[in-house]
Amino acid sequence: MTGSADPRIEKAAQLLAHAQRIVCLTGAGVSAESGVATFRNAETGLWSQFAPQQLASQEGFSADPGLVWRWYMHRLDMVERAWPNAGHDALAALERLAASFTLVTQNVDDLHERAGSRRILHLHGRISRFHCNRCHFEHDLLPSERRASEPPACHNCGGLIRPSVVWFGENLPRRVLDHAWREAERCDLLLVVGTSGVVYPAAHLPLVAKQSGARIVDVNPEPSEISALADVFLQGPSGELLPQVTQHVRILQGGAQKQPPPE
Ligand code: APR
Repeated sequence: MTGSADPRIEKAAQLLAHAQRIVCLTGAGVSAESGVATFRNAETGLWSQFAPQQLASQEGFSADPGLVWRWYMHRLDMVERAWPNAGHDALAALERLAASFTLVTQNVDDLHERAGSRRILHLHGRISRFHCNRCHFEHDLLPSERRASEPPACHNCGGLIRPSVVWFGENLPRRVLDHAWREAERCDLLLVVGTSGVVYPAAHLPLVAKQSGARIVDVNPEPSEISALADVFLQGPSGELLPQVTQHVRILQGGAQKQPPPE
């Protein structure tokens, strides 16, 4: 679907332009056009090569800490080589146009930050941060540790250092999750971008928003269970669609920015 005359783009822009409190939930798809692999894409997804439990769980880390370490260093390199795409930029612009905008992301990359988004909640942690798997001591990675084939030892207790991302079977950070839930319950528009909506509790957020009376806009090349809930489903790549939506919001609002650009 292309071309800005598309009525669904218009309708999505109308909903966003008139919303008082916007929450945006993003998944790996928003970073796909930056060259950062998604998880469940059958051909190129990260999980197509490895089993999630093998590489993103305590069991996998205990079984083979070196394999998990090398996989996360590979993903960290991929993220650091990537650049925000037009979809990330459009969401940062939308935040400045909106009266209230909270970005809740499942992504562990920093592409939203690098695009200029400010109010960001990372539900699944950050791949660029590290802590001890035993004592939770925070750890700043040395270049030599980046290149190592095994995880470094904690300076505090000798335990193994791991990335500060949420693994399968682990709880999401409570404070972040509560904040995201409160925002979803208060928003009048939830914009969902690039998530398959299969991993809970993040995937529950659209239902929380819907039950609180919010309208939903979903952006994804593939329909999902969230698309079925959506008032508007924009089928296509977010890097192509979000700039069109944001441009229409800008026109509807007469270009007025409601929030100052980042200093
Ligand atoms: N623009 C928008 N969406 C896209 C694009 C694109 N260019 N390319 C792919 N997508 C969509 C896919 O259609 C899919 O619905 O992005 C979604 C990616 O889904 P997943 O790979 O399942 O990623 P995500 O939904 O973020 O996974 C949630 O699961 O593995 C865990 O912790 C991991 O945070 C992740 C969580």
